[in-house]
Amino acid sequence: MSVSLRPFLPADGPPLARLFRESVEILAEDDYSEAQRVAWSSAADDLPRFIERLAQSLTLVAARDGAMAGFASLAGDRIDMLYVHPEHAGQGVATALVDALERLASARNLPALTTDASDTARDFFAARGYVAMQRNSVSLHGEWLANTTMKKQLTPAGATR
Ligand SMILES: CC(C)(COP(=O)(O)OP(=O)(O)OC[C@H]1O[C@@H](n2cnc3c(N)ncnc32)[C@H](O)[C@@H]1OP(=O)(O)O)[C@@H](O)C(=O)NCCC(=O)NCCS
Repeated sequence: MSVSLRPFLPADGPPLARLFRESVEILAEDDYSEAQRVAWSSAADDLPRFIERLAQSLTLVAARDGAMAGFASLAGDRIDMLYVHPEHAGQGVATALVDALERLASARNLPALTTDASDTARDFFAARGYVAMQRNSVSLHGEWLANTTMKKQLTPAGATR
């Protein structure tokens, strides 16, 4: 089944907030405690702020067979958010989203992309050529969550690979 991508619209906010919570709750289960996942998913509690964060970035929404399957956002030269619905995990949704963000970043002549990768996403980014730069510990609602800043050099658009 193929993945289709489209730009984010403000009306996507509520369903994407639900998708975000379910993604964190289920897909990050092996890497973060229940308390850590609750703290992480609280980023969607303030819905207007969540929508604003996505609207201010270059945000793409992925669908599979008409169902919302995931989303990703590019803020400057940083992949800010990347979340896939558990029912669509392991089907290439994140690959399609990050492929598209990398192409857009290359077209904007960005030399590199960074991301603060969760421990759940770290192998995914490493397999795409992102290199670990530093380990971080982020305080969220009294919980400490670890992530890794990773960086990938991009090939300029039009250059031969
Ligand atoms: C990480 C995440 C985005 C991956 O999404 P996905 O759509 O399942 O990824 P894909 O299907 O495109 O996977 C592509 C490749 O990465 C691998 N991969 C994906 N998630 C992985 C994981 N947690 N551990 C190891 N490998 C993983 C897949 O096996 C696949 O490899 P293959 O091409 O050899 O088969 C998803 O698990 C998720 O939303 N996690 C919870 C939220 C999160 O941590 N977001 C990142 C914040 S920085």
